[in-house]
Amino acid sequence: MAPVTSLSDAVNQQLTSALSATLPEADADPLLRRSDRADFQANGVLALAKKAKANPRELATQVVSQVVAGDVIKDIEVSGPGFLNITLTDRAITENLAARYEDGDRLGVPVKDRPGITVIDYAQPNVAKEMHVGHLRSAVIGDALRGMLDFTGERTIGRHHIGDWGTQFGMLIQYLIENPGELAPAAEVDGEQAMSNLNRVYKASRVVFDSDEEFKERARKRVVALQSGDKETLELWQQFVDESKVYFYSVFEKLDMEIRDEEIVGESAYNDGMPETARLLEEMGVAERSEGALVVFFDDIRGKDDQPVPLIVQKADGGFGYAASDLTAIRNRVTDLHATSLLYVVDVRQSLHFKMVFEAARRAGWLTDEVTAHNMGYGTVLGADGKPFKTREGETVKLEDLLDEAVQRAAEVVREKAQDLTEDEIQERAAQVGIGAVKYADLSTSPNRDYKFDLDQMVSLNGDTSVYLQYAYARIQSILRKAGDVRPSAHPELELADAERALGLHLDAFGGTVFEAAAEYAPHKLAAYLYQLASLYTSFYDKCPVLKADTPAQVENRLFLCDLTARTLHQGMALLGIRTPERL
Ligand code: ARG
Repeated sequence: MAPVTSLSDAVNQQLTSALSATLPEADADPLLRRSDRADFQANGVLALAKKAKANPRELATQVVSQVVAGDVIKDIEVSGPGFLNITLTDRAITENLAARYEDGDRLGVPVKDRPGITVIDYAQPNVAKEMHVGHLRSAVIGDALRGMLDFTGERTIGRHHIGDWGTQFGMLIQYLIENPGELAPAAEVDGEQAMSNLNRVYKASRVVFDSDEEFKERARKRVVALQSGDKETLELWQQFVDESKVYFYSVFEKLDMEIRDEEIVGESAYNDGMPETARLLEEMGVAERSEGALVVFFDDIRGKDDQPVPLIVQKADGGFGYAASDLTAIRNRVTDLHATSLLYVVDVRQSLHFKMVFEAARRAGWLTDEVTAHNMGYGTVLGADGKPFKTREGETVKLEDLLDEAVQRAAEVVREKAQDLTEDEIQERAAQVGIGAVKYADLSTSPNRDYKFDLDQMVSLNGDTSVYLQYAYARIQSILRKAGDVRPSAHPELELADAERALGLHLDAFGGTVFEAAAEYAPHKLAAYLYQLASLYTSFYDKCPVLKADTPAQVENRLFLCDLTARTLHQGMALLGIRTPERL
């Protein structure tokens, strides 16, 4: 592994020393960014001049005189009120890219000096319930954040906090006792059968529960049996969990997402620790008894009539709920898993819950200044009409139906484009294109915003879609195939065309973008980077002939740029959980 210093970092360093040589007392940021006029522009002198009450153009001229043009910087000049325009040598750009090219999948990107441990809570469906469109975002965003964080060298631990506990299990288990054989053993069913069995049991038990008072009473007693650890009851509960997992796995597979069994640690996993959590909170005075319940109050959290809204740790009947489970999970994640960051990819509608849970955990000392906790509350998926996504009958959309439709739609696009593919190949590509389209549409919008689920737009070849990126990748592969024996190879002695520098400087920014997107939990920044990469590649390809370039060296150098672009696209998409087929 050979990390490469990015060109912007190299320039930044030179400018920072020039700035401090000019104004030693100032701790100055050159504020370097990419520019259309030159390769980079630095605006930092303006703020500095203001502070030092100096003339900005004069100060800029002084800074310029401190910069030695050389291997990297070819030219630096003052422009406008005191900006610095910086042009790099062609050689520095090509050599930098060549070093990235030599570094395999990492593309010259270094790993963090001091990686932390992030426990990421995502993809948390509920047992015995169908996954719907609301579960899409947590899975997709969580998986992408994890990919990006891992790439920076952070250690991530997944936690799928599935809803596997609660009073509804009394009803379900009691029904199963009275109607044995309604759930086939988990080993004997596929995902579809599992869900259809669970649905049937759920609906049927609901009907009896709502109409039969005596059954209701038996179901209530069953909850008590479950909570007290009755063996037969627990076995039946486990059957619901196992059957549901068969179904979850089938959906995650459709989503082209790897979920590890040991990371499915649901609400029930914290049952044993909850009494202690409650006891500690009460002893420390963080929680107090109110009308029999154990609750935590917050000054700034109030509901109707300005009444404080408490976090309920233990209900008056002694039962523990969602909050107790999450508080106990925090203790486990910080103490046993040694997390330095806790990340929860959970619907924004639960943000108040997490605000209270985090605050309570801080008061208890379970969350310290060394540990960050963040609820990445994402927005809602809307239908094409801009209203929350529902079926025509007004029901929530099943996640599977939605994925199937995306794949079907993608198959049409693939079929139209590629005449020489077999039906099997079309179906395989369709899955990669369709699922990629769904993920990309989700990831390319800032997570806290709502977005429209519009399949026509998502599988379009034009615009900011994954299909556009996948085509750019496949087109490059086809050029590389056509090149035959001519191998991509860097030629630092060559002069670069404008489109080549623009592409090259963007390739250099890959690592910086992943680090920024990972640190800010902002996958859309990586998506935007990749879209721009594909666009810059398109203009490069329009302006610079590759296989018909003037000299053999230029052909090789351009093939090298093509290949590095493809590998960067591939790696970036992979971090987001999206495939890049070799042919489309
Ligand atoms: N299962 C919950 C739901 O579907 C989400 C769980 C979120 N994670 C957590 N630690 N509370 O709403």
